[in-house]
Amino acid sequence: MTHQKSSELSQKVINGEPVKLTFHYHSRDIVRFINSLVIKILSGNDMSYLQTIVETVLREMIVNAVKANSKRVFFQKFGMDINDANDYLLGMEKFKSFIIENQDSLVTDLKENGYKVEIIVKKGEQGFRILVRNNSPLVQAERERIQMRIEKARQYNDFSDIYMDIGDDEEGEGLGIPLTILFLKNSGMGDNSFSIQSNAELTQSAFTIPFNIQSIDVKTQIQNQIVDTVDELPSLPEYINELEALCAKKDVSIMELAEKVSIDPSLAASVLRLSNSGGFITARRIESLHDAIMIIGLKNLKAMLVTIGARRILDEHFAEFKDVWKHCNKTAFYARLIAEKFRLNSISDRVYLASLLHDLGKIVLLSTDAKLVQQIAEIAVKRKIRTSTVIEEVSIGISHSSIGRMIAEKWKLSSYIVEAIAYHHSPSKASAENRDIVYVTYLANKLCLIEEKKFDYFFFEDSVLERFKLTDEDTFNAFHKQLSEKYLAQ
Ligand SMILES: [Fe+2]
Ligand SMILES: [Fe+2]
Repeated sequence: MTHQKSSELSQKVINGEPVKLTFHYHSRDIVRFINSLVIKILSGNDMSYLQTIVETVLREMIVNAVKANSKRVFFQKFGMDINDANDYLLGMEKFKSFIIENQDSLVTDLKENGYKVEIIVKKGEQGFRILVRNNSPLVQAERERIQMRIEKARQYNDFSDIYMDIGDDEEGEGLGIPLTILFLKNSGMGDNSFSIQSNAELTQSAFTIPFNIQSIDVKTQIQNQIVDTVDELPSLPEYINELEALCAKKDVSIMELAEKVSIDPSLAASVLRLSNSGGFITARRIESLHDAIMIIGLKNLKAMLVTIGARRILDEHFAEFKDVWKHCNKTAFYARLIAEKFRLNSISDRVYLASLLHDLGKIVLLSTDAKLVQQIAEIAVKRKIRTSTVIEEVSIGISHSSIGRMIAEKWKLSSYIVEAIAYHHSPSKASAENRDIVYVTYLANKLCLIEEKKFDYFFFEDSVLERFKLTDEDTFNAFHKQLSEKYLAQ
């Protein structure tokens, strides 16, 4: 129903007819509906890559509009005059805790007092124009503060500037406008069209998504540093590639493999350790490499070779990020289960390997500037941004997915691994050939991120949910529970 409705409305907008949505409070369903409308309008114009940026900017505008209305409800309720400077200062001190504590009754209050928010989307000559209106005028103090924030925001060049200035204020109050301006500027949409106006009846914020986007190359010092670092990384050792080729041969001799593996003592130790681990059922302790390879199988051996080679290089060059590897291991475990569950057994070893490596770029990014990565992740969660890669792009100029891709290409890893790494946050970019592998990696990764409280069901790409028949949230949750129980039981 929602699906159909948003398709209908997006078509209207594309055809030049304005569309208006009205609501009192931005419930999860309403935000989801607005996002699905936005993505359909964007994809109808080949602008899907702007999805997260537009979504985030729009969300900031909506949250502010609802907040402004809620403020009026609060002042009325406690008999204070919002236009009185003293009352305003006094009221604002209590307002923050009020909206947190009274969220449920607030929805009713907004409705009963006739406070509403309108979103208007229309096609203009230059681009799509998005207006967000709420039916309360700004008071002088608000007007001044907003003006000050917009002026200040235009001076920020990158994310760390903003964060240094206002990032640590608890509610992230001052972050909305600077983030909006930075997003518009660095995405190429331009911050000039962004405005906030108010008359005697209402307040309106607006921006334009231009048809012709001037793509901006965000170049930062960190980005240059990262590119140099990746350039200087050594290649994967030759014997790993040789072993990989051997594994792929039909008539491979285990003897020969065991001999080659034994050249590298730590690799040999890892193979032995894996064959004796809980994942493989054996009656006795495995002591020889030959037996160990028989037990774990060629597919697992191959995955192990690449991962060990990759990890060794990364561990030598960067700080060790145990959490990232732990996350990758879990993602890989989920990925294999998902593949098996959806009868994609033919790709289960590939999704396993791709998932083990999917966050390679994160290690490089963390090593280069751990603090910045931490700040970006924090903001993404706080501002409910679909994926932190977008903030990485607009603030650093490169995301951890793209860094990972550079490394994978340098190491001449198979194309499916390169794609899974590059698109694990943007699966719709996958080639038809590797789509399932990328989708499974994406799904497995996001399941882990949900557990880490960094993602939400409602941010999922529709196409992936449809592919795995998980468009119903209850079905999705049941599926997730099944997987996490298996993980705990291993
Ligand atoms: Fe990632
Ligand atoms: Fe990840």
